[in-house]
Amino acid sequence: MNAILPDAAMRCSGRVLTNNPVSSGLIRLDLELDAAPGFEPGQFAMINLKGTGAFVFSRPFSILAVKEQVLSLLYRVVGGGTSAMQQLRPDDQMTVLGPLGRPFAAPTDELPVVLIGGGVGLPPVWAWLKQNGRADDLGFFGARDGADVPWDLLDEKWRVSVDNHQYVPADRIAWQGLVPDLVAREISADDNQPRLVMACGPIPLLKAAADLARDRGWQCQVSLEEHMGCGYGACKGCVVPVIDLNNTAAGWRNATCCQEGPVFWAETIDWSRYGRHDFDVID
Ligand SMILES: Cc1cc2nc3c(=O)[nH]c(=O)nc-3n(C[C@H](O)[C@H](O)[C@H](O)COP(=O)(O)OP(=O)(O)OC[C@H]3O[C@@H](n4cnc5c(N)ncnc54)[C@H](O)[C@@H]3O)c2cc1C
Ligand code: FES
Repeated sequence: MNAILPDAAMRCSGRVLTNNPVSSGLIRLDLELDAAPGFEPGQFAMINLKGTGAFVFSRPFSILAVKEQVLSLLYRVVGGGTSAMQQLRPDDQMTVLGPLGRPFAAPTDELPVVLIGGGVGLPPVWAWLKQNGRADDLGFFGARDGADVPWDLLDEKWRVSVDNHQYVPADRIAWQGLVPDLVAREISADDNQPRLVMACGPIPLLKAAADLARDRGWQCQVSLEEHMGCGYGACKGCVVPVIDLNNTAAGWRNATCCQEGPVFWAETIDWSRYGRHDFDVID
């Protein structure tokens, strides 16, 4: 695949409007851009600080929402880049490149969608439900505990699970357990409705969602999070192992997460290698 910046992607400045926590671990960043970008749920943007504080590599973040010229992201502080983002104040300037990557599938009449988000995997599935959600589409969100849930973002369409039941507000409902198990409980095994799962979150969640979908005969798309350098296919720093039926000797190949993904059909991922960073030396 050629490393060509997608036509729809724009490089622009973003002025910080707000940068506030929406739960104990998640922060919402609203940026006012130079122009209004289009985006499809599942796409992401590469974000960086401006000026001397800028990082060598921008950081990828799924797009939560775009309203006119305001781009919204949801992030968790995990390292240097996100720590610096946490310090941003209104009127600080950022650089933004996006939208990038392949989005989740568009809605089709015959396939209700099951959205599964874990922790910071919420933005792309939240964006899909917000933009496309119909009566039969269901949203499931899993968090560590009640304090980690961005309750104000989750309306009645969302079912919530928590690893630990602490801090769940008295007027909200959360089931204790893993979010794919909540999906299995809520949609009976006798239900014969064909469905399409869209999942984003930690690798064990993605594997469990893919396994559940396979067992139920549902289709499944997963959005993967890899370290990224460029965001559009130039650096090859973001590869994930996918099944390659044309390459009969190896049976798999490296696919760029930024360009061929981040959304992949679950059955195309080589789950025996995915998440292992030594996979390129396996026979
Ligand atoms: C397509 C895509 C969408 C993403 N969307 C979001 C989002 O909506 N919200 C959000 O908070 N994060 C998201 N991420 C992850 C985000 O890019 C990383 O958390 C961020 O780059 C970390 O930067 P840092 O400098 O703070 O951490 P670093 O100092 O670079 O790393 C700190 C820790 O985080 C791990 N890490 C860093 N980058 C990633 C990554 N890309 N995937 C998995 N682990 C990583 C490192 O291994 C290390 O353990 C997304 C990643 C991708 C590829
Ligand atoms: S991030 Fe550079 S090729 Fe994917």
